[in-house]
This record gives sequence, structure tokens and C-alpha cells, in this order.
Amino acid sequence: MAKKNFSLITESPHKTRKLGETIAAFLKPNTIIALCGKLGSGKTMLAKGIARGLGIDEHSVVSPSFVLMREYHRGRLPFFHSDLYRLESKERIMELGVEDYLNRKGVLAVEWADKTKGILPLEHLRITINFLSKNRRRFSFCAAGRRHRDILKRITKKLRF
Ligand SMILES: Nc1ncnc2c1ncn2[C@@H]1O[C@H](COP(=O)(O)OP(=O)(O)OP(=O)(O)O)[C@@H](O)[C@H]1O
Ligand SMILES: [Mg+2]
Repeated sequence: MAKKNFSLITESPHKTRKLGETIAAFLKPNTIIALCGKLGSGKTMLAKGIARGLGIDEHSVVSPSFVLMREYHRGRLPFFHSDLYRLESKERIMELGVEDYLNRKGVLAVEWADKTKGILPLEHLRITINFLSKNRRRFSFCAAGRRHRDILKRITKKLRF
């Protein structure tokens, strides 16, 4: 039985980007990544790494705060990147129509996913980032559902060895 939880520490933004690239290699169509962590913890940095790993120009990946959802179609899989920081209520988040992005065979990464309780499907890969010091962050992974657990199992195997 695969372990569901895994965590590691990165010691620079560059290492976080690399972590994102590594993760990207194991992502499949219809993967949901819930990114949790406070302001400036590194959610966007990790998303840039994931984009790069999917073959998308990471410089085109900017914080989606003002448009709420950005789409990138030039990589191995479509990449949908959302930031819910500015949305105060569940109603506003519902209006964003996250579910419209769920079955488009892409990777959906949601920043501030803690706000989506009851909106995002329960089956997803959750990455929680903790600020340890100026350049150190802890990334804790947790997956629910067979598909996402399988993805996490492969990521864990790659990162452990
Ligand atoms: N190990 C690290 N991993 C990621 N970012 C780091 C690390 N060390 C320092 N940083 C810095 O922390 C900041 C992370 O910013 P980023 O925009 O990725 O955070 P965020 O969680 O998306 O914030 P927001 O909640 O505002 O969207 C960057 O300025 C980055 O240079
Ligand atoms: Mg961000």
C-alpha cells in the first residue's frame, strides 16, 4: 500500500522550481493540484516549475490574481492555473466555474485551495507549503483518490531516491 503523505524541504526558489519540474513529469490528464500556504510561501514558484516541466515557457506563467484563471496550451498537457486569494466568498469561487476545467484533460493548479472546501473534488493532490525561514520551505504532499494517490506514489519514489 502506497504511503499517502510525503514531505521535503527546498532551500531556494530555484530548488522549488526544480521540484515543480519533477512533479510535472508524473502528471496525467485531469490532475487537480491544490496549493495551500500563506502569502509568499512559494505557490506560484512551484506552479512555474510545473509549467516548465510540462513544456510551457515559465516566464509566461504569472500570478493569476487578477484574471483568476489562466490557461496554457503549449505544453504536454493543458495547464490551468488559478489563484483564489481575492475571492472572499464560496459563491464567488463557485462563479469561477472550477468544474469547467476538470474534464478538459489538463492539469488544474489552484492557489489558496484551502478556500475551496466543498467545491474542488475530494480526489486531488494537495501540496501544503510552510514557510520555515527566508529561503527554506517545507512541501507536504497528500493525495486522495486512487489516481492522485498513484501519481503521488510515483513522485515520492522519484524524490526519495
Ligand atoms: N525555497 C523557496 N521556495 C520558493 N520560494 C522561495 C524560496 N525561498 C525564497 N522564496 C521566495 O519566496 C517568494 C515566493 O513567492 P510566490 O509568489 O511563489 O508565493 P505565493 O505562495 O504564490 O504567494 P501569493 O500567496 O502571494 O500568491 C518568492 O519571492 C521567492 O523568491
Ligand atoms: Mg501566488
